Amino acid sequence: MRLDKFLADHNIGTRKQIKEYIKNGRCKVNGIVASKPDVHIDENKDEISFDGKELTYSKFHYYMLNKPVGVVSSTTDKKASTVIELLKEENVRGLSPCGRLDIDTEGLLLLTDDGELIHRLLSPKKHVDKTYEVHIRSKLSEKDKALLEEGVDIGDKNDDGSIKLTLPSKVSIYSDGDENGNPIILLTIHEGRFHQVKRMLEAVGNEVLFLKRLSMGPLQLDDSLTPGEYRELNEEEMNALNIK
Ligand code: URA
Repeated sequence: MRLDKFLADHNIGTRKQIKEYIKNGRCKVNGIVASKPDVHIDENKDEISFDGKELTYSKFHYYMLNKPVGVVSSTTDKKASTVIELLKEENVRGLSPCGRLDIDTEGLLLLTDDGELIHRLLSPKKHVDKTYEVHIRSKLSEKDKALLEEGVDIGDKNDDGSIKLTLPSKVSIYSDGDENGNPIILLTIHEGRFHQVKRMLEAVGNEVLFLKRLSMGPLQLDDSLTPGEYRELNEEEMNALNIK
């Protein structure tokens, strides 16, 4: 691949900036200062450094976003802005959100161009757990907590027409009241059905007033990210997701 493409894939700068950086001698190939942006390199064998720091080649890109309310988690939308638009400065083609959060849901969303990882995390067979902070209308009784944990009828049917209860989940009481006095629970589910959390709370006669995803599998929302902010996954997170 071309050296400038390799550097652009590492988000070193725009093609124009990269050309300038190379001209200024900031990039080395196998220890020798590179002089041309169009020089061809072998990204698997050559040692490329920028400002003295070695760059390892990763075929794919991985970002953690704190999705804000009001943005849709699809790649295109006629009316609303999309999570992809929030990352447009990264100039990464083929980026997709790993799963969906409703427009009024906030929190952890992984965006990547690694289709295999998306498949692995979303496959219904894998039961990847997702934990949500759920602000609800009224205090959860012990009975409703137990019902949610055992499985509730949210209106879905199995192929044979029987009721498809939700899989067992875990509920913990997080706070008796947020700033508006609404109780907060933490709910961990192992499926990803449409509007699942909202429908589960509805099934026990309650209502979700605010929803935020805190984790997905081994990935935890970085609490230094305010809504709308994102960052690349770090090495520890990549290892936890088994990304080579
Ligand atoms: N469950 C919901 O109801 N909405 C979400 O956005 C995610 C899970």
